[in-house]
Amino acid sequence: MFKYILLLLQILTIVKSQLTPTVRTLHDTVLIDKKLYIFGGFHAPAPNSTIESEYNLNPDDRFFYLDVSKPFDTSSLPWTPIPNNEKDLPLNFLSSIITGGVSASIGGVNNDTIYFINNERDKTLPPVLTFSTKDNLWHSIFQQSILGDRPIGRNQIRPITDYNGKIHLLTGFSFVTLQGVTRNQGGIIVFDTINFSCVVKDADISRLEYSATLLPNGIIVYMGGKTSDGRADTDNFRIVYLYNTTDNTWKPQPTTGDIPAGDHGTSSVLGLDGFRIIVFGGLNSGNKLLYVLDTRTFNWYEPNVSGKNPTIKRFDHSANVIGKYMVIAFGSGSDLDFSYRSNSESDVLLLDIGNSSNYVWTNYFDPNAVIPPQTTSLPTDSNSTQYNDNSNNNKKNNNNNINPGVIVGVVIGVIGIICIISLSIFYYVRRRKTGKGIYEKAIPTPSNSENIIPIPSDLELTYGRK
Ligand SMILES: *[C@@H]1O[C@H](CO)[C@@H](O)[C@H](O)[C@H]1NC(C)=O
Ligand SMILES: *[C@@H]1O[C@H](CO)[C@@H](O)[C@H](O)[C@H]1NC(C)=O
Ligand SMILES: *[C@@H]1O[C@H](CO)[C@@H](O)[C@H](O)[C@H]1NC(C)=O
Ligand SMILES: *[C@@H]1O[C@H](CO)[C@@H](O)[C@H](O)[C@H]1NC(C)=O
Ligand SMILES: *[C@@H]1O[C@H](CO)[C@@H](O)[C@H](O)[C@H]1NC(C)=O
Ligand SMILES: *[C@@H]1O[C@H](CO)[C@@H](O)[C@H](O)[C@H]1NC(C)=O
Ligand SMILES: *[C@@H]1O[C@H](CO)[C@@H](O)[C@H](O)[C@H]1NC(C)=O
Repeated sequence: MFKYILLLLQILTIVKSQLTPTVRTLHDTVLIDKKLYIFGGFHAPAPNSTIESEYNLNPDDRFFYLDVSKPFDTSSLPWTPIPNNEKDLPLNFLSSIITGGVSASIGGVNNDTIYFINNERDKTLPPVLTFSTKDNLWHSIFQQSILGDRPIGRNQIRPITDYNGKIHLLTGFSFVTLQGVTRNQGGIIVFDTINFSCVVKDADISRLEYSATLLPNGIIVYMGGKTSDGRADTDNFRIVYLYNTTDNTWKPQPTTGDIPAGDHGTSSVLGLDGFRIIVFGGLNSGNKLLYVLDTRTFNWYEPNVSGKNPTIKRFDHSANVIGKYMVIAFGSGSDLDFSYRSNSESDVLLLDIGNSSNYVWTNYFDPNAVIPPQTTSLPTDSNSTQYNDNSNNNKKNNNNNINPGVIVGVVIGVIGIICIISLSIFYYVRRRKTGKGIYEKAIPTPSNSENIIPIPSDLELTYGRK
């Protein structure tokens, strides 16, 4: 009886997830409302127009989503087609892979729209297309509706939407702006999805297939990547670049610790604590599978990981944080090696990042999994002290680099002192009151503070001892 129910359930699952997408690299992913949308990508070493038109025969393989509203096992992924996709997906209006593809990112007033930024090569295409996840409808945005420059996307760009609905597109190729200005050093293109304005700004770096992570303070951390002629930078993790999305300023940030060697095609996500950047995969076989950058100290370390490691290291995959998981989708080994499938490995890898002292590779996704409380204490290794010293030395010329841990410490310290002082006053006043009965309506006045002096000096002692 039980067996039959299981079988029935299995059949139902198969019927429901009719989609078996092909493998791919350099696709776009956008998470909206428990749906991980996946667009594009390719798996042929040299895609040409014949190959792409074959891809395009199957719109449900070009654009679909992973349903992350329910639990699933990665051996049976809940890939789901988009309603009316066969009819509505405007493949002819989206830049082809051969010209460099598109960049897709979230945006709009309600955070429920995907913005597809075309590349600039085919001037007849609208620069931007939108897909509303509310009603599954597509719209074209033509240049006439955009104030300022032409937005440019590519599948090798990692678009980041900031907290104000602006998409930041760091380029690694030369291009010509609408005003006819050639930009050989690339730049960063900022498209505002709320009011459709677009500006091009200078950037400190010019790269493709890099990783980009938005921090809660509005800084995007850029790392890794290669130049447009395919040259890998050997030093692109030792110095990461901090880009302020508010004023478009850049700052090179040296790092310490177990620094990954130069690479591209890695992914990076922000840990659940809001300050650890978790980096996965890449092409450089000398590098480890996973690294973590602590953005409070800019120290790299190799995280503790348990569970079954992926059978091959993937690059040009995607990674999103969903619940307590880092969800990695598709990608390949070097030379478009998709052998993970023949190793019975899923297209989707799940890393449980709930506990930062022990990440776990898992096959089971639970959307309702409780996110454990996150540790925010600074690392206790020898380098954290060194960092604190550095940050003190740099404070003068580096105001935006104050260690949040120090701020928390100072705040807690100040609150502690206030508590101790208030308690002392309270008890002092009470003792005086019960003892002599002269403080009936007494409210501590500045004159009382003289009596509290011993307490701060105790604290001074503690500081001195440290
Ligand atoms: C595209 O590549 C495929 C496989 O390499 C080849 O068979 C086909 O003729 C090519 N088409 C064009 C238009 O070059
Ligand atoms: C959109 O999402 C961003 C980032 O999560 C958030 O800061 C912003 O408030 C959201 N906007 C709306 C309208 O929900
Ligand atoms: C769009 O909004 C940005 C701020 O988000 C502002 O700087 C810009 O001037 C606005 N542009 C238009 C055309 O309203
Ligand atoms: C501490 O920093 C030094 C260089 O600044 C580095 O060589 C070493 O690996 C770091 N140690 C740890 C535990 O991160
Ligand atoms: C996180 O993992 C460490 C090491 O395995 C363990 O000691 C700790 O209790 C875990 N923390 C939580 C909140 O589960
Ligand atoms: C790794 O786990 C050990 C033992 O649980 C713990 O002491 C250590 O701090 C962990 N390391 C990291 C980098 O989380
Ligand atoms: C980003 O720039 C804005 C405007 O200059 C500034 O107020 C803010 O402090 C900067 N953010 C950080 C984290 O430095």
